[in-house]
Amino acid sequence: METMANKIAIEKAKSSKIHDVDFDNLSFGSVYSDHMLVCDYKNGKWNTPKVVPYQPITLDPSAKIFHYGQSIFEGMKAYKDENGKVWLFRPEENCKRLNKSAQRLAIPEIPEAYFMEGLNTLIDLESEWIPQSPGSSLYIRPFVFASGNGFHASPADEYKFIIACAPSGSYFSGKVKVLIEETYSRAANGGVGYAKAGGNYAGQFYPTKLAADKGYQQVIWTDDNTHEFIEEAGAMNVFVRINDTLMTAPTSDRILDGITRKSILDIAKDEGIKTEVRKISVHELVEAAENGSLKEMFGAGTAAVVSPISGFGYHGKDYDLPDLEESYASLLKKRITDIQYNRAEDKFGWRHEVIQ
Ligand code: PLP
Ligand code: COI
Repeated sequence: METMANKIAIEKAKSSKIHDVDFDNLSFGSVYSDHMLVCDYKNGKWNTPKVVPYQPITLDPSAKIFHYGQSIFEGMKAYKDENGKVWLFRPEENCKRLNKSAQRLAIPEIPEAYFMEGLNTLIDLESEWIPQSPGSSLYIRPFVFASGNGFHASPADEYKFIIACAPSGSYFSGKVKVLIEETYSRAANGGVGYAKAGGNYAGQFYPTKLAADKGYQQVIWTDDNTHEFIEEAGAMNVFVRINDTLMTAPTSDRILDGITRKSILDIAKDEGIKTEVRKISVHELVEAAENGSLKEMFGAGTAAVVSPISGFGYHGKDYDLPDLEESYASLLKKRITDIQYNRAEDKFGWRHEVIQ
């Protein structure tokens, strides 16, 4: 990685909002820290990022983000250990994925040094904002959007890359009941499903609302062609345990290549759990639920961490999952969070210390 030629300038907020925040009762992503990183793309290049007070952005009504949805994002977390050291989890993977998304949405790629050094500078400055109550962390949202103007349907000539932070608790408040989708699709072959494009989420809101009206918290998307194979959920990849085998769908151009997903697969293998990455049919899932071999399902993602699924709905029928005392979900959640919060050895080399 090339290092940056210019140092990142910091403009400090005049006063801090930190004392207004109830750190013992944090929801997910709804209060924001004092500063943000901003980096502008103009005249064919990314300018040196700077840290400024968290503030609204002014855009022209013709900015292309509003009309053509040229926008991508990432989701990451910063964790503080008992000794006050600050850690990120595989941040270079988020940088790579942001640039994969950028390429697909015709957005200029962010130099890795801008991402990594910008992140370090911001998280170091905001380290007081990292909650230490169990299960909480500082959620980090890097995003890039078309700030350039024009109604012409073509890529913008100006962009903004911003990193904002939100001290957060759990994404879900309890166990998650999911609906297996039979009508709508999240992504199609050759589309943008593998990118973390804002529009992928907007397209999910209506079917997810229909599911929520029936009492389901998330939709499990199926392949757009046949709706016969499960793919992923709205905000997380999905794991299924049949007997003692843990399986998940292979990534493709329709599925987000989750960093938690691949870490969970590595940890499961390290635990000696039999894993399979293969297509999982809805038929197989229903059959396993009916004959009792479907032991558990869970979602995996940065926001979701490892979230047990309590049951699924399909074709007008609900299938409940047993409450296991020793589930793979709890074992794997403990292993991954112990690494993230620096409570255990990191044999995979995933933890990244924020230089203070
Ligand atoms: N799938 C979708 C659609 C997501 O939004 C996310 C969250 O980022 C994931 C999967 C999990 O990805 P990761 O583990 O990299 O956070
Ligand atoms: C994340 O897990 O970081 C995500 O981006 C999911 C998001 C929809 C909250």
